[in-house]
Amino acid sequence: MHDIPDDIFTEPEVDPDTLANLGPLRRLAGIWEGTMGVDLNPKQDGPERREFTERIELQPIDPQANGPQLFYGLRYHTRILATDEDATFHDQVGYWLYEPATGLIMQTLAIPRGQIAMAAGFAAPGDVRLVLEARRGETEYGICSTGFLEKAFRTDSYRIEVTFNPDGSWSYILDTILQVARRPEPFMHRDVNTLRKVEEPTPNPLMLLDKG
Ligand code: HEM
Repeated sequence: MHDIPDDIFTEPEVDPDTLANLGPLRRLAGIWEGTMGVDLNPKQDGPERREFTERIELQPIDPQANGPQLFYGLRYHTRILATDEDATFHDQVGYWLYEPATGLIMQTLAIPRGQIAMAAGFAAPGDVRLVLEARRGETEYGICSTGFLEKAFRTDSYRIEVTFNPDGSWSYILDTILQVARRPEPFMHRDVNTLRKVEEPTPNPLMLLDKG
């Protein structure tokens, strides 16, 4: 149970400039491409290794408040193609959020196979490594799946580790632990890639209004 303030309704003053308030998430803003992705996923005969390319758009949104709790964030869309196939291999949308008052960082994710999660961690401006986790069964930072996935490919945990590289690129390691039905051991579904910037971010709508 978190301590909450007496006044849970009054919203703070906000700075309209999201890009200036993203703290440790600032280096994620922009449009990125990566060509060195590797995925290990569960198949009937054992783990399958696939190489992939990826494009991620991470754009600043206007500041958002839950009463006194204030977030600055990015909305993202990731599209992944396997190098040997035209159909989308993995698609994902969500938000990265930062609460300057506490250092809380969050990634929400929605995957169009009927799965959502919210992972959390803590970081400070200038950090070169971010680690966020979500666990099935948690009500605060959890994972929620279709009934089929719950029974056939139960997702017990999700972890993302992001490293900001000295050349301006960033890399991630995603570990999703799946309990596949009728298998004795959990399966480590792992994805890795490095993203290079192809376009700068577009300032958030409130910031553009202020400028106009
Ligand atoms: C770069 C990111 C990812 C890629 C490229 C990817 C790709 C894949 C592929 C190719 C499969 C096998 C699909 C099939 O056999 O039909 C799979 C299975 C699965 N993935 Fe991912 N995945 C990614 C991230 C994630 C994340 C973040 C989650 C959940 C938090 C997730 C959850 C699952 C689950 C539950 C399955 C088993 C269901 C199934 O095989 O149909 N994946 N993934």
